[in-house]
Amino acid sequence: MALREEDDDVNLTKMGLLQIGENEEASEIISSGESEFQMYRINSIESTVVIRQLPSQGIAFKLWLPATTLVTLLDNYRRDPNTSPLTRTFSSFQSDGSDSSSPINIVELGSGTGIVGIAAAATLGANVTVTDLPNVIENLKFNADANAEVVAKLGGKVHVASLRWGEINDVEVLVQNVDLILASDVVYHEHLYEPLLKTLRFLLLEGSKRVFLMSHLKRWKKESIFFKKARRFFDVDVIHCDDPQEEHPYTLEQLSVLSEESVTVDDKLDRILIMFTPTIQHCSMANIIGLCLRAKLKECLPLHYKVDIRVSPGSHADEVSVNKQLNDKERVAAALENPNLRQLVDECIYSDEI
Ligand SMILES: C[S@@+](CC[C@H](N)C(=O)[O-])C[C@H]1O[C@@H](n2cnc3c(N)ncnc32)[C@H](O)[C@@H]1O
Repeated sequence: MALREEDDDVNLTKMGLLQIGENEEASEIISSGESEFQMYRINSIESTVVIRQLPSQGIAFKLWLPATTLVTLLDNYRRDPNTSPLTRTFSSFQSDGSDSSSPINIVELGSGTGIVGIAAAATLGANVTVTDLPNVIENLKFNADANAEVVAKLGGKVHVASLRWGEINDVEVLVQNVDLILASDVVYHEHLYEPLLKTLRFLLLEGSKRVFLMSHLKRWKKESIFFKKARRFFDVDVIHCDDPQEEHPYTLEQLSVLSEESVTVDDKLDRILIMFTPTIQHCSMANIIGLCLRAKLKECLPLHYKVDIRVSPGSHADEVSVNKQLNDKERVAAALENPNLRQLVDECIYSDEI
């Protein structure tokens, strides 16, 4: 995915924006039926955080790459605050004359699995409220409880609350004494831009020293609409950015588009089913991803295997049509005869990126 920063010049604070970088920390996924437990080592606290993912239940139940990047930055900040990109952002609310021995109060928006809020509570010894849509709360609570002991040892605490963007009633009950608002990977669907901005405008009230810090994976140009709108209300600053030379640094596995669990092999019937999950519902690359999978498998599988390639149910706005195209022999053959498409597919499957 492209991570190039193409937006206008940005230079101020209030809304700290960061884009994702490589995550070098060790982490391990353990599967158990529907659930996956991600063990995430946070070196600065010499502890491991455990996060339950329920990937089949939708995007809020998976750990997204920008979350792990923000966790790594928090970890590095604790280890060496002098060299961290977060230092300037944090100093803006730490220098407001409040008692520095009292814990920082943080609200996280769209927490999903909650790893960012939990890591913030542990690394900063902070009081964190992780929030999301009502149907996500149970899993958030599960993860908050699973890590309560580690967090408490470091002087932190994680609370869980339902907070729907755009619903000011939900925010009002939470805003007392908030210093910092966190989020990761919350700018994706266009229809969510306005509600998210409404919540942010309420939280970043005029005159307050609050800061919004978010990590973002730049997937599509349209996201610039969100940032253009945000700049009308806030000072926006890019405080950390991935290497701009590297245009496609993430594999489909790193982006959680594909995993070993999404491949089912039936050796008796010589059938293979591959379910992939596009990063967003309107992903325009879904057909190309499927085509690449098909072209690659055609090269390495015995001919008698029948391969079905589908998007995971509910993961794409054009699910029916994408599935139809990817499993229609004639359409696939025609697509692969198109020289431009063939070149694109070849570039994907002969690089290490798929
Ligand atoms: C791509 S996920 C990111 C989850 C998590 N922050 C991460 O990076 O792993 C987007 C999150 O935003 C939440 N979300 C979407 N619409 C929302 C809304 N209207 N109000 C509150 N949360 C919302 C989703 O439930 C989901 O947890």
